[in-house]
Amino acid sequence: MDWVYNVPIKFYEYGITDLKDTLTEYLSKDNVVLIASKRLIRDNDLTDVLSNVNDTFTLFDESMKSLDTHLICDYFKQIKQKPELIIAIGGGTSIDFAKAISALYEYTGNGNITVDEVVDIITSKKYLENTNYIPIIASSTTAGTGSDCTKWATIWDYDNTKKYSIDADYLYPTQSWLIPELTLTLPKSLTLSTALDALSHACEAYWSVSTNKIVQVLSRDAIRLIVEYLPKVLSDMNNLEYRKKVYMGSFFAGLAFSNTRTTACHSISYPLTLLYGIPHGYAVALTLAEVLKRNKDYIEDYDLFMDAWNADSIADIDCWINNVSKDIQTLKLSSFDVKEEEIAVIIKLTFTGGRMDNNPIVFNEDEVRDILSNVY
Ligand SMILES: [Fe+2]
Repeated sequence: MDWVYNVPIKFYEYGITDLKDTLTEYLSKDNVVLIASKRLIRDNDLTDVLSNVNDTFTLFDESMKSLDTHLICDYFKQIKQKPELIIAIGGGTSIDFAKAISALYEYTGNGNITVDEVVDIITSKKYLENTNYIPIIASSTTAGTGSDCTKWATIWDYDNTKKYSIDADYLYPTQSWLIPELTLTLPKSLTLSTALDALSHACEAYWSVSTNKIVQVLSRDAIRLIVEYLPKVLSDMNNLEYRKKVYMGSFFAGLAFSNTRTTACHSISYPLTLLYGIPHGYAVALTLAEVLKRNKDYIEDYDLFMDAWNADSIADIDCWINNVSKDIQTLKLSSFDVKEEEIAVIIKLTFTGGRMDNNPIVFNEDEVRDILSNVY
């Protein structure tokens, strides 16, 4: 067997009206947790849906920027009893939070767990033995992170400058609701950073050592849609047709990297987010062209990859990334308050197992130094 492609999720494309009907039905059941932000509920007129539900339902006002070990412990205390179902409607952090509850709730005493216990369960991989996990329904409100298509979640440990993954077959959402209308209220910076994250997922899936023909078709379509329509969305933010194209591009990117995981760009990005708070999408897009330069000779069907970008050269791609970002965020390390002399410290933290070694060539420290210096 050369390869297998597997995503055991039921996908539904919905409008807001379908969402209201479906949510009403699910929230009438006992012990349901909904993770959604108050802004999302207000902006999409969902208040009525939530006012008629029974009292065993828990709503998290999810507006955190990243999921860290302390937040998990704090939020666990709010759950009234073990949930039967978790519905997460939000960005990647909301969906990752649902996965953390699913994987870890079994190890809490009525929601009580310490940060050290969370770290131990994750790093010892004890959560893999969990047979009482909680099913998840996910709906992504950003066109970006792809967490609605994957079986893993990112958890940050700022106390120890570490980034963890929980990764288990049971963490695939059972359903994913695709609702492009929910992205209409996303501000410019979030629209850009999440789309750049999706674009990186598509590129990294394409050149990953675990790539395959289905992944490559999905990646090319994702790249084509995002490259053509992201600039249009950014100049016409309320255009639903353009939003739908970027949403589907991001969805295809999610399907692509769900079967490969990511590579060097993501591996290098983690310390940039941990140490400097650089938003994930910017942190990965920063090195995309530099990594591509080095991977070029190892990419199968490279011409088709470049066709998807509608680019003749890597310089064209670099130019596209800088142009689409220029009015919102300069993609240089110096614009995020990184000091040049700190690059030596960053390099040591860029080698994440399962990411750097998933790149078609494994970089050494000197090559990472070159990449980071070129984007300083
Ligand atoms: Fe990502």
